[in-house]
Amino acid sequence: MFAEQKMTRRKFLKYSSNTILASIVALCGLSIITTACAAPKGITEGAMIKLGSLKELRKGPLPKKVEYSATLQDGWTERETKGFVYISKNVDDELIIMSPVCTHLGCTVPFADEAQRMNNIEFFCPCHGGQYDEAGMNIGGPPPRPLDIFNPIVKGDEVYINILNVTERT
Ligand code: FES
Repeated sequence: MFAEQKMTRRKFLKYSSNTILASIVALCGLSIITTACAAPKGITEGAMIKLGSLKELRKGPLPKKVEYSATLQDGWTERETKGFVYISKNVDDELIIMSPVCTHLGCTVPFADEAQRMNNIEFFCPCHGGQYDEAGMNIGGPPPRPLDIFNPIVKGDEVYINILNVTERT
């Protein structure tokens, strides 16, 4: 009788742990499938913004301005957004995707004029005279750090950025 009860308890524990394990595996599997299926399609999904084909973005002259318009998903609501980024390349020939927002006080930074470009100033912030070079490095004026960047997310030949995920450089 006692041995039978012990077996029952053991069986119960075994079944319970198997059930819990199966649930965890099912949830993880579902999560992996959901993540894989959440790859960008069309223009955007969530905060993903399609910039264009890798081949086109790498084409010079660089740096260049790349405009985007997209529908951002925010919970149950959607909103239209428009903007642009600057595309350049680093010494390893990798894309640098830069935010045009000045790291001083947030003005939008345009390209420098011809005379400023003669002095290696590629972007010039009109608000307080912030200067950046072609890689977006701060080289003069009050900006405390380089232009922020977006990590390129490459799917096939298309390049996407997560517009809500900007990276600060030092
Ligand atoms: S906001 Fe750009 S230099 Fe101040």
